[in-house]
Amino acid sequence: MDISFVRNQFPALSNNFTFMDNAGGSQVLGTVIDRIREYFLNYNVQLGASYEVSANAGKKLSDVSEKLATFINAKSPKEIIIGHSSTLLLRILSICISKNWKSGDEVIVTNSEHEANVSCWNDLKEKGIIVKIWKVNPQTLEFELEQLSKLLSSKTKLVAMVHASNILGTINPIREVAKLVHDTGAYLCVDGVAYAPHRLVDVQMFDVDFYVFSTYKTFGPHMGIMYGRLNLLREMDGFNHYFITKEDVPYKFQPGNFNFELTYSLQAIPEYIELIHDYHYVNDKAIPIREKYQKSYDLIASQEQELAAKLLDYLNTKKEVHIIGCRNGAKDKRVPTISFIHNKYKSSEIVEKVDAYNIGIRYGDFYAKKIIEDTELIQKDGVVRVSLVHYNTLEEVGALINAFEKFL
Ligand SMILES: Cc1ncc(COP(=O)(O)O)c(C=O)c1O
Repeated sequence: MDISFVRNQFPALSNNFTFMDNAGGSQVLGTVIDRIREYFLNYNVQLGASYEVSANAGKKLSDVSEKLATFINAKSPKEIIIGHSSTLLLRILSICISKNWKSGDEVIVTNSEHEANVSCWNDLKEKGIIVKIWKVNPQTLEFELEQLSKLLSSKTKLVAMVHASNILGTINPIREVAKLVHDTGAYLCVDGVAYAPHRLVDVQMFDVDFYVFSTYKTFGPHMGIMYGRLNLLREMDGFNHYFITKEDVPYKFQPGNFNFELTYSLQAIPEYIELIHDYHYVNDKAIPIREKYQKSYDLIASQEQELAAKLLDYLNTKKEVHIIGCRNGAKDKRVPTISFIHNKYKSSEIVEKVDAYNIGIRYGDFYAKKIIEDTELIQKDGVVRVSLVHYNTLEEVGALINAFEKFL
């Protein structure tokens, strides 16, 4: 991967700062910024009117949904729900899908989730829904499918699971989970927020029923996207005004509508992934679009693996450091979100020392409260998290290692 080409697409990367808190929020593409401006200058009217500018604006936004559907391999743009954030989209889903659930029905959540995919299900306890917890093996910090089999029952309505943990970086076996869940007649709702910045999303291949991710962590603006299987979206009651009909998918899940200018900018994300392909494989521009996306993400995954390996190799040499999660950079096992604790220092002390080097890393529980509580990491102020993406460089990782080396 030509790293300077990649970095040139992100204007903020030319500032003298090393961004390594990308799982909190990534830097934004220049083309995202351009498109927000373009929308305001050309299409900033209310949708649905008969005049030309309104019709053009509507067409531009439906083009974005089409593009996003292709990007994540949804069958129809109607399956793309655009919202304020992943948290809010999951909350809307939990309210709408549970309307017909009865007291005693069950939901399974994991102890590796960000609260976004927990609180909205836990709150259904008020109407008698039972929430069971699927825990990682405390030694390996990995999920075991046998444990899920024991929790599933004929009363299970839905399993909520994170695709990649925003603490551990571990990639969970979503397709295998989907098979088990569907065999019991339940639905699978996956939080892909910490996965989507690193690998190509393919909702059909994953065989998920619902899948959310946040575009401000995938090089775009502050918004969330939720995929839902069309027949399920159609069956559910909506969350909009009484006159918005059941057939009006996805609008019935988008109360108050979505943000038009930011939505318009989202198209720049798949275009960027396509650009990575076309730049690196100049003689191969005619291949189908999803093959292009895949080849770009292959480059991204290789770059990320090198970055992760460099940092993990260093951390593995430190006797006082305990890596939380997979100890090597293998791209099929993890994304480069790397967390650790130190025997002597609190996580807050380490991060505060690194701040002085103009490198942004972070400590805490990252709203993944249960895994931090279950692994008793709270006394350490949570973990130190270094979250890398493909635009980080080996030199930047070297600079972080040099900073750590002063005191670790
Ligand atoms: C794994 C994971 N899920 C969900 C969220 C919540 O996303 P949003 O801020 O879009 O609600 C985050 C945010 O940090 C996250 O890391």
